[in-house]
Amino acid sequence: MSTVFSEDSAWAIILAAGKGSRLGALNNGTEKQFIEWKKRPLYWHSACTFARCACITGLVFVFPEKYLDREKDRIKSLYAKENLGIPWKIVAGGATRQLSSRNGLAQIPFSVKKVLIHDAARPFLTPALVWEICKELTSETPAVIPGIPVIDTIKVIKGNDEEFVAGTPPRKNLRAIQTPQGFVKDILLSAYESNFLSEATDDAMLLEKQGFCVRVIQGEEKNIKITVPEDLMALKESGCAIQVTGFGYDVHRYGGERPFMLGGIAIPTEIRIQAHSDGDVLLHALMDAILGAACLGDLGAHFPDTNPEYEAISSSLLLDIVLELASKAGFRISQADLTIVCQKPRILPFRIQVQKNLARLLELPVNLVNLKATTEEGLGFTGNMEGIKAFAVVSGIRKLSGMSSP
Ligand code: CTP
Ligand code: MG
Repeated sequence: MSTVFSEDSAWAIILAAGKGSRLGALNNGTEKQFIEWKKRPLYWHSACTFARCACITGLVFVFPEKYLDREKDRIKSLYAKENLGIPWKIVAGGATRQLSSRNGLAQIPFSVKKVLIHDAARPFLTPALVWEICKELTSETPAVIPGIPVIDTIKVIKGNDEEFVAGTPPRKNLRAIQTPQGFVKDILLSAYESNFLSEATDDAMLLEKQGFCVRVIQGEEKNIKITVPEDLMALKESGCAIQVTGFGYDVHRYGGERPFMLGGIAIPTEIRIQAHSDGDVLLHALMDAILGAACLGDLGAHFPDTNPEYEAISSSLLLDIVLELASKAGFRISQADLTIVCQKPRILPFRIQVQKNLARLLELPVNLVNLKATTEEGLGFTGNMEGIKAFAVVSGIRKLSGMSSP
């Protein structure tokens, strides 16, 4: 695959060659990097995040040797479904994390100047963190790593003896370090060549030992590493709830044969309505607002007026169907504000009755359903008493499965 590399382009290495032994047999023998989350292997989520950042121009996946062919096929089919738009390579890891990093590093094209090394077991990293690391990497600061302040007091113990404390480093100077860790590639390469540390638990340690400047930037609380069984809980929250609003508008012409229905209540008036359904302008605006909040299109798309089934149908019945559809889309209404615009009839005498009925239909307390009415001062088609219009705004919560907060 040929690619043009800019001076500052960075490749990301996704380390996925571990055994996940601390997670234990709990996961049916599947190593944590291959856990299916939102219908994709865990490592793919990090790949997607990197691909969303323009500063990342390529990916290297590092897998256990025995899974190399299987994962090559899987990545090909994942790319076929959601092309990440950047080249990728795949390589076998080693017995330790550091050996896996080194194998990944050897795959980075010569012209690439920067590299980010990331644990596949940290699927929650954000593009903002990737950007920050890429931005802060310079020849003066050849290593940039994310860290968060520690909450607990940390003790250093003597050797392997767990019972005796050797010291307590000041907590304000301590950071829990995460990945991705960013490096100027050539400096990291030479550190690997000259200073292989068997005890290194991250890549930055190699540069620290050689006296290079390693900068810690603010990491992300949510960027945890799936390590022990309890961490799997974090993968269960595969959705989010967001506050949503919907708007609806409808008009009906006077002069037909339908009785005057408003919010499910028959209004005693001589005025008749022209409509295919029961012509309840208020419920129609309300239903459109609900469909809007649930992102389900509009009333006409669900109940076409060409369908004889909906002739003279009660809008209260349609509202039940709309609420059911919205509920399936994760929407729960919490409040509605409606406005009727007409010259005649006068709405005020029926306002409370209509408001109560709307609250009943929506299963909401009456004080969360507001109803207003106004004239247009004799202007326009409402002023000429040719018709009536209604506006509706609803708000509520929408639960979205398989999505993180926007
Ligand atoms: N890793 C790797 N090669 C190794 C060891 C680890 O690529 N030889 C990767 C893991 O797949 C993981 C990341 O490095 O994404 C962080 O390592 P860790 O959390 O320790 O994962 P494991 O080594 O798989 O887990 P454990 O230590 O519990 O066995
Ligand atoms: Mg490990």
